[in-house]
Amino acid sequence: MEKLQDESNLIVVCGATGRQGGAVVRQLKSDGWRVKALTRNRHGAGAEKLRRDGIELVQGDLDDVSSLKTAFQGASGVFGVTDFWEHGYEAELRMGRNLIAAVNACDVDHFVFSSVGATERTEGLGITHFDGKREIERAIADSGLNATILKPVTFMDNMIGPRFRANICKKGKFQFGFNKRHKFQLIAMRDLGVFASLAFQKHPALYRKPTELASEAITMEDFSSKLSAAVGRPVRYVFLTRPMQQVIGFFISILGRQGKYKAGPSLVNQFSWNNEDGGWAADIEALKAIHPALMATDVWMQTIDWWEGLR
Ligand SMILES: NC(=O)c1ccc[n+]([C@@H]2O[C@H](COP(=O)([O-])OP(=O)(O)OC[C@H]3O[C@@H](n4cnc5c(N)ncnc54)[C@H](OP(=O)(O)O)[C@@H]3O)[C@@H](O)[C@H]2O)c1
Repeated sequence: MEKLQDESNLIVVCGATGRQGGAVVRQLKSDGWRVKALTRNRHGAGAEKLRRDGIELVQGDLDDVSSLKTAFQGASGVFGVTDFWEHGYEAELRMGRNLIAAVNACDVDHFVFSSVGATERTEGLGITHFDGKREIERAIADSGLNATILKPVTFMDNMIGPRFRANICKKGKFQFGFNKRHKFQLIAMRDLGVFASLAFQKHPALYRKPTELASEAITMEDFSSKLSAAVGRPVRYVFLTRPMQQVIGFFISILGRQGKYKAGPSLVNQFSWNNEDGGWAADIEALKAIHPALMATDVWMQTIDWWEGLR
């Protein structure tokens, strides 16, 4: 692989105050790239934390293509990610198209876009949070850009929100929408950061090859027993059945702006698809050949302070 990480090669990272972009910006920096973190608000708490970590910030809004063109000036690479959960299908697609237009206009050498796994196997299933990403992948292909599409499966890091941790640590209960029968693929956010950095290094197994990404495949009961060891108390798995998911989906739909995006039903449809056969299909052995230190769930669990704020 070429050694591309030096001061002349700047990467602008979208979503850097969030989970995916945050993992990417930190990995790129530690791998020796010059990086800039794009944010709508340079004075927000997430941006201030990046600044304290020595990361340069740049102002930009995915809904404002001219701000992206300014932010991408001089960049040889751009990491793009769009957020369905804040904006919904139509705006997510529009933002993806804005990214493509700005990358194109700025003569960026390499665009790495984080989509989601399985977009090519889930068309017509009503999984709206995949649908916009599939359209963006197609728009990238049509644009002729030099691009690599990363396709992460379910993040392990979904399980560390305050409600999950309170249930796990205080009630000994881990609840999720995956059934007890199958092994489900999960990915650690940190591994996504490593794959993004390898993509920018033009790793031959990743560069310009859309790749579904996972760290491990595990049953939810095994995940719960590893959680028991990590938090120091027994944790049992509770499968949220489809009717239970629909009740939760209903509340997601009436609370806040996600209602108008049909976010609840979209999530229920994703779980139904996953529960048929596990759904995700990353080639984990091939991924280990690219990134041998893929994080197993128990290793990932050791990196989390499960009891933070709960004692
Ligand atoms: N959860 C999973 O298992 C999973 C798996 C695969 C894919 N995904 C996808 O991941 C995406 C969310 O990624 P995430 O979890 O990293 O998000 P996140 O932690 O919620 O952060 C959202 C980021 O997006 C940025 N952002 C939002 N709107 C923006 C705009 N208009 N202009 C510029 N930046 C904007 C925010 O930056 P500022 O606020 O600083 O501007 C923030 O950094 C979703 O589309 C989801 O479908 C999730």
